[in-house]
Amino acid sequence: FPTHITKVCCIGAGYVGGPTCAVIADRCPHIKVTIVDISVERIRLWNEGPLPIYEPGLEEVVGRCRGRNLFFTTDVTRAIEEAELIFVSVNTPTKTSGLGAGMAADLKYIEAATRMIVDASTSNKIIVEKSTVPCRTAQSILTILENNCRPNVCFQVLSNPEFLAEGTAIADLQAPDRILIGGMNSPAGKDAQEALVKIYSNWVPRKRIITTNLWSSELSKLAANAMLAQRISSVNALSALCEATGADIDEVATAVGWDTRIGPNFLKAGVGFGGSCFHKDILNLVYLCESLNLPEVAHYWKQVVDLNEYQKTRFVRKIISNLFHTVSNKRIAILGFAFKKNTGDTRETPALTVVDCLLAEDAQLSIYDPVVSHEQMLEDISSLRRPNGTSNITLNTDVYEACKEADALVVCTEWDQFKTLDYKRIYQSMRKPAFIFDGRLILDPIELRQIGFSVEIIGKSQPITSAWK
Ligand code: UDX
Ligand code: UDX
Ligand code: ADP
Repeated sequence: FPTHITKVCCIGAGYVGGPTCAVIADRCPHIKVTIVDISVERIRLWNEGPLPIYEPGLEEVVGRCRGRNLFFTTDVTRAIEEAELIFVSVNTPTKTSGLGAGMAADLKYIEAATRMIVDASTSNKIIVEKSTVPCRTAQSILTILENNCRPNVCFQVLSNPEFLAEGTAIADLQAPDRILIGGMNSPAGKDAQEALVKIYSNWVPRKRIITTNLWSSELSKLAANAMLAQRISSVNALSALCEATGADIDEVATAVGWDTRIGPNFLKAGVGFGGSCFHKDILNLVYLCESLNLPEVAHYWKQVVDLNEYQKTRFVRKIISNLFHTVSNKRIAILGFAFKKNTGDTRETPALTVVDCLLAEDAQLSIYDPVVSHEQMLEDISSLRRPNGTSNITLNTDVYEACKEADALVVCTEWDQFKTLDYKRIYQSMRKPAFIFDGRLILDPIELRQIGFSVEIIGKSQPITSAWK
């Protein structure tokens, strides 16, 4: 197997494949990186702009390498043929029908990519799973390869899951906590692992590059996402308790996080987690546990998702009860639609659940997000299949317009700009009493209450009342 890689191909020019391989090209000028996709439009955007995904710093990286050692093309066969190492970064959505519908990962894109690779390969290749896949997918890939390859062509399969978070993808890729590379415990397997280790060693310290067996690597990705999501569900569960007791979830999280065994990060309470990974990967893990006849383990992890659903609907219930138990025809401004700040991605965004529940109550919604396109919002809201479609929705390009004459503002995404809006001006333009529901704990309740707002924040109750000041 080639241990000195000079040509890399990446199948799938999405949120994972695009930024990951752009950074590899940036850090390894001696390696030619070709990113391919079946979507002609996506490839056109990568080549001509605007880039198909919003990610701080990505434009600079692509700008430095594109045409030098970074190429985007739909000519999949040629890119595979010339590469020594191929990343598979295609999507693995949740199955919508058949066995495991709603839980299991749909591996049809992985299988299609594998078959494309084996059909186009006339020399030995290292195949690297980048997409998050169920544990033991590498076995399926190997079996397809073995049964279809040309004589004298061999493959090695590695698992190299991506841990980047959207919104910080470039920073995460440039200074990763760790790089995980799983491979077969054979001499050829070790060679393949070493070839990939060498690529990352161009910018990642050796001690941060971990090699394991294939199944540990595949499972670690699901495990990491499950444990991260579990932290959020844990803190969100405590946020309900805080509201009921008068404790403050930010104070509790800080106090708890100072314990070095727990740590301070990833303890921010909110309206619930979203994004393409957590929900999908936990359900994937739950399905895996069920298939392996481990019902107690499946039940344990399923609770993380159930609590997340509870948190989202709990937030909506809080909105409705505070607005005198009816939002019918009330105008509510939704601030933020992306699943987190600094991304235009709306996959599994909690904002959509909030919108869905409020539309069911006949509210009139005006929505503002600084990055998410109006087409994307309309597509997402249409997918709810509400009887009135999108007729009760106004999409705004100006945040102050969105808030005008609203009865309430609902913060669904923690965009920095929401912290510094002119809330006096907004207050004056709203119907009274004017409410703010902060689903991301980014606003200053004292200041807002001084202006005249009624403020409700997840994990915080109204201030203590006492005759003594
Ligand atoms: C996640 C993992 O972090 C990453 O390692 C993995 O590779 C893919 O999935 P991502 O979904 O892009 O990344 O973003 P992340 O920052 O993890 O946020 C996920 C969701 O959790 C967001 O909706 C975010 O708002 C929410 N979140 C995160 C909280 O509610 N509180 C927190 O403290 C952190
Ligand atoms: C615990 C808390 O750590 C401490 O902060 C609190 O004040 C009191 O409760 P303790 O019960 O004395 O302290 O010991 P700890 O080290 O936390 O272990 C508790 C149990 O968890 C033990 O049975 C230990 O074997 C087990 N444990 C701990 C594990 O199984 N795995 C671990 O990684 C850590
Ligand atoms: P992720 O968040 O995992 O990166 P995306 O949906 O953003 O997921 O990206 C996956 C990309 O993979 C899409 O652009 C899709 O068109 C592409 N893709 C899926 N199957 C194939 C395939 N067989 N060949 C090439 N590209 C593919």
